[in-house]
Amino acid sequence: TWTMANVVEEQVERIREQVGEGRALCALSGGVDSAVAAALVQRAIGDRLTCVYVDHGLMREGETEQIERDFVAVTGVDLRVVDAREQFLGALAGVSDPEEKRKIIGREFIRVFEQAALDVVGDAKEHGEKVDFLVQGTLYPDVVESGGGSGTANIKSHHNVGGLPEDLQFTLVEPLRTLFKDEVREVGVQLGLPEAMVWRQPFPGPGLGIRIVGEVTQERLDILRKADAIVRAELTAAKLDREIWQCPVVLLADVRSVGVQGDGRTYGHPIVLRPVSSEDAMTADWTRLPYDVLAKISTRITNEVAEVNRVTLDVTSKPPGTIEWE
Ligand code: XMP
Repeated sequence: TWTMANVVEEQVERIREQVGEGRALCALSGGVDSAVAAALVQRAIGDRLTCVYVDHGLMREGETEQIERDFVAVTGVDLRVVDAREQFLGALAGVSDPEEKRKIIGREFIRVFEQAALDVVGDAKEHGEKVDFLVQGTLYPDVVESGGGSGTANIKSHHNVGGLPEDLQFTLVEPLRTLFKDEVREVGVQLGLPEAMVWRQPFPGPGLGIRIVGEVTQERLDILRKADAIVRAELTAAKLDREIWQCPVVLLADVRSVGVQGDGRTYGHPIVLRPVSSEDAMTADWTRLPYDVLAKISTRITNEVAEVNRVTLDVTSKPPGTIEWE
């Protein structure tokens, strides 16, 4: 729209003023905010922005490719993908406790991103340049919540024995600070970002790691990823994406039940569908999905995902249930 075209122009101008001839770094998470922030900064300073995407192996089907391929194709952004899948799996081995998983995933993320940031800073140094700026997709509601402060940041490095804060001290660039979520989506559309990225529903940072109830393993991730892809495809086909706040798909990895599939008796895992309607995720109600959509999802999952022999529906509001199972 006209107003959003103005917002883009204005922000591009501001970013140019702030960054000047400097260089910037941005972590892409797969979410709308970091993608739109990065696309704006790329438009303003081009190759002087380097994006880093940490592939922790906990994303849903197609999401990493969407960033690596589609996002790069549209924006022309300079992207470094760090394949940290094995590192995350290793760190998560044997861990079932939800908060423990969150801690581990957060810690590993900082470790990997910090190393990638050091590499980017090091490469710039070799060319006699400095990376002074860190791009963040902070939105207006985040600014209000945190009291409006802004300025500098350094990537947390308390766990790092060697210590490296000096090189990783940045001035923040926050081009979305005045915008609400719906405006950010409009800016994304304006910038030509892929629909699926612009309209992405909330997805937790720890990803599928907190949607496997039990230990996270490669095999379990593969099972959940297949089931989740079916759910998302069917909800999209039924044009329900924008009516639902989000629909976690959960694998009860330590639960087994008896079923009969194909040639005979199976002893498989249940999948839980958790479609919710919400305004802000603080409270939520379970979404009354049409029966035919539920039936289609159930049939497809049990036909196409061999390890799953039961599909269940979570009919709990929040409170008392949280949206995620972990
Ligand atoms: P709950 O489960 O607390 O979720 O009702 C509320 C909203 O927050 C998301 N969520 C997370 N997001 N890291 C995130 O970035 C997390 O650890 C996390 N846990 C929950 C959840 O998807 C929902 O939108």
